[in-house]
Amino acid sequence: MGELTKIRTAPRVRTAKAPAVDKRSLPLGQILEGDCVAAMRELPDNSVDLVFADPPYNLQLGGDLNRPDGSHVDAVTDEWDRFDSFATYDAFTRAWLAECRRVLKPDGALWVIGSYHNIYRVGAVLQDLGFWILNDIVWRKTNPMPNFRGTRFTNAHETLIWASQGEKSRYHFNYRAMKTLNDELQMRSDWTFPICSGGERLKDEDGHKAHPTQKPEALLYRVLLATTEAGDVVLDPFFGTGTTGAIAKRLGREWIGCEREADYRKVARARIEKELPLDESALTTMQSRKTQPRVAFGAVVEAGLLKPGTEIFDKKRRWSATVRADGSIECGKETGSIHLVGKALQGAPSCNGWTFWHYEAGGEVKPIDAARGLYLLASED
Ligand SMILES: C[S@@+](CC[C@H](N)C(=O)[O-])C[C@H]1O[C@@H](n2cnc3c(N)ncnc32)[C@H](O)[C@@H]1O
Repeated sequence: MGELTKIRTAPRVRTAKAPAVDKRSLPLGQILEGDCVAAMRELPDNSVDLVFADPPYNLQLGGDLNRPDGSHVDAVTDEWDRFDSFATYDAFTRAWLAECRRVLKPDGALWVIGSYHNIYRVGAVLQDLGFWILNDIVWRKTNPMPNFRGTRFTNAHETLIWASQGEKSRYHFNYRAMKTLNDELQMRSDWTFPICSGGERLKDEDGHKAHPTQKPEALLYRVLLATTEAGDVVLDPFFGTGTTGAIAKRLGREWIGCEREADYRKVARARIEKELPLDESALTTMQSRKTQPRVAFGAVVEAGLLKPGTEIFDKKRRWSATVRADGSIECGKETGSIHLVGKALQGAPSCNGWTFWHYEAGGEVKPIDAARGLYLLASED
């Protein structure tokens, strides 16, 4: 890592309100060659929506490792994973994280994956630089490599840190899509996937693994689906076989990679070339209510989608109310908004009037939320 030890570590000063960059000026769909710190310096400030980084682990493996049957274990012993000391590794970590911070948009976010060898060091540096940790995710491996010597617990997980640019930044999280992905249960911070194997594992001409640390596609799929939108720009400074690029392409996201090893770049390019983007219709995901535009019931009445004088009622038809010209409703002595009247009638602490009240249209009973849907549809045209 001689060349990397010389890297200057002082982060550049961020301009508070740097204008967002036109993404067409970025090297989208390209793998930048050489050291990622130098490569990222060529990218403009405030230009990337998400960074996914799988940096060297600094495994410090000494000598060869064999299985009990004598066969050789394909461990990470490559030059790109060797650092002289923790101090060298920390300086390198500070340098690449500072560049990520500069190129990320203020509301952009960063993911970094690592093992116990490096993740604590990376976590400390990213906090020192001002990143704000949102979650640490444990990726539990269903098929981890055993501890062949039987001297420690089987190391069966890796950790991902998800961090925003700062405590106040409005990072992106597709909460609803994650809940849907998890069978209507909130997605948790412990994820279970097998390590990359079988047909997904890329091989060289001799049938050996093309890369020692290729990540599972399912992991990237979840990360990108959870924290980006179609069209967002995702940067991976340690591209390897291009797992991030392949999944970004599949999910209709833009990508930029950095990779210092020519062999890996070649494998990644061929892999991404073959990847097919999903159809736009398949990319629409469930949205949280709070990400839908707010609509006042009055606007639905004004638009004629529920006319003044219409009778609305709760599902069990215990109460019925009349819609008035200003979007208020009347039910006996109770008058007010759809929410307040629903709440008063039920003696409930709160009421979502959109789902509580119903109306009849074309012989069908529908929640008035359906009229709001029609209103939103009409406003898109
Ligand atoms: C842990 S691997 C990433 C594997 C990748 N996530 C995948 O699924 O294939 C780290 C990669 O970063 C590359 N690398 C290490 N140091 C680098 C640097 N300073 N600049 C650019 N690439 C680097 C290595 O060659 C290696 O391919």
